[in-house]
Amino acid sequence: MNSSEYLDYPKQILEYMDGFFVSKTMFAACELGVFDVLHESDLALSAAAVAARLGTSVDGTDRLLSACVGLKLLKAEMKNEEAFYANTDISSIFLAKSSPRSLYHMMMFHSHTTYKCWHFLPEAIREGKNQYERAFGISSKEVFEALYRSEDEMETFMRYMDTIWNIFGKDVLTAFDLSVFSTVYDLGGCSGGLAKQFVSVYPESTITILDLPKVVQTAKKHFITDEEHRISFHEGDFFNDPIPQADLFIMARIIHDWTEEKCLQLLNKIYKSCKPGGGLLLVEVLLNEDKSGPLTSQLCSLNMLVKTEGKERTPSEYSKLLTASGFKDIQVKATGKIYDAILGRK
Ligand SMILES: C[S@@+](CC[C@H](N)C(=O)[O-])C[C@H]1O[C@@H](n2cnc3c(N)ncnc32)[C@H](O)[C@@H]1O
Repeated sequence: MNSSEYLDYPKQILEYMDGFFVSKTMFAACELGVFDVLHESDLALSAAAVAARLGTSVDGTDRLLSACVGLKLLKAEMKNEEAFYANTDISSIFLAKSSPRSLYHMMMFHSHTTYKCWHFLPEAIREGKNQYERAFGISSKEVFEALYRSEDEMETFMRYMDTIWNIFGKDVLTAFDLSVFSTVYDLGGCSGGLAKQFVSVYPESTITILDLPKVVQTAKKHFITDEEHRISFHEGDFFNDPIPQADLFIMARIIHDWTEEKCLQLLNKIYKSCKPGGGLLLVEVLLNEDKSGPLTSQLCSLNMLVKTEGKERTPSEYSKLLTASGFKDIQVKATGKIYDAILGRK
């Protein structure tokens, strides 16, 4: 396309405009169980057969399945002028609920919580704050009180947090050799998704998850089985309770939740609890130094605005925070995927 055609036909802008149609189509197909029905069926199914199993309208299901074919989430084969649908490989692996690498819970969290907060993006930008109050009528000042507004919401959030580390956990944990550290704490370790990967990558090691009491109780009940005896728990509030001494602290997706002031408060506290020679591993999405990209990180930073007190940062912004808290020898390793690793030493 030459430049004048490009200006006559704003293809890119029209595609961006429809961007949320794409997300919502995938979320609806997940929520209704399209990928599960097709995953469980040995044969490709017609829209009528899928609708009968899901209890949905035939017309609506037909349109949804067809859109999923357009998105390459399903494949269709025509027989006697009727389409028969089956999952593509990525849908079976990442969207069917029963798959070990399923992102189903992440989709549900984005569909029910994130999407509603993004509705108020202009307000978030005007006011510079998260939008739980408008989206959910929650007047709470605390991010995690809003996220954990009911047991169910907390469990959905924890499942969302959990699933990602089945995919990216090994990359961030092998960015540095962490086998040199003996006592390891995962601060804000949530469901233990990363802790499980840690003990699998470092078979000689043990790790303790520190998180809020109700999160720890739910993690013990639903996420960490008794066989995972190398993972232990510590109930606590990392801002207000003492942080135990350790050789290595891991904080994945924690610093990006908080204001500069709270980050420094937390990092200073961790530095005091870190044994000499020990370290702090941050796992975060990184922005380019000139903030020119990557697009995923730029969008994640807007996502932090509508949902948290924090933002995504550049490697030098993280280095500055770590240096100001006393850490030295700071190294940043890009994994080539969404999450990168930053290690500071005491
Ligand atoms: C964005 S999640 C990240 C979870 C986990 N690190 C991961 O990457 O999957 C933030 C975590 O910090 C925990 N958290 C929030 N405030 C906390 C506090 N004051 N003390 C301890 N944990 C806290 C939350 O319960 C949640 O598990």
